[in-house]
Amino acid sequence: MSNQKNQSEENLYKAFVGEATASLRLKGYAEKAEKEGYPQMAKLFRAISAAEEIHALKHLRILRIIKSTQENLQDSFESETRISEGVYPDFLRVAIDEGHKAAEVSFSQARDAEEVHGKLYKNAIDHMLDETETDYYVCPVCGYVHAGEPTEDCPVCNVGPDKFLKVA
Ligand SMILES: [Fe+2]
Ligand SMILES: [Fe+2]
Repeated sequence: MSNQKNQSEENLYKAFVGEATASLRLKGYAEKAEKEGYPQMAKLFRAISAAEEIHALKHLRILRIIKSTQENLQDSFESETRISEGVYPDFLRVAIDEGHKAAEVSFSQARDAEEVHGKLYKNAIDHMLDETETDYYVCPVCGYVHAGEPTEDCPVCNVGPDKFLKVA
């Protein structure tokens, strides 16, 4: 019996990863359909993407990967640090070795943005009980996140402050 449950836990994780990936892939397909002049197909991709996201979140909740907000902040901080200091620098070296320019730019911008994400988490952990309200803005090109309304170009990819997306 317990073995069966273990298998299901493993399957839940696989299903979570599969659905989360599919949801994002479909967003990419929708973008492409939009560019190719198929707005109806784009809508369909976005609808199924939203549905796969619901599945992914359901599997995730059952897995109990989500803990208290304090633990989730700590976990997110550690994961950003691991990624920006370990994973992306390694990926970046390989991309440079192989002369894969697009991967190099994507990894380098992501690494820089992740470093800032880590700082934002650290700051949030230190000020979790403060009453101050801050709006966050995301750079649509590189994923850099700015606390407060941006007035200058993105420090990672130089896109203008007017292009930033305000997070609800
Ligand atoms: Fe990040
Ligand atoms: Fe950017």
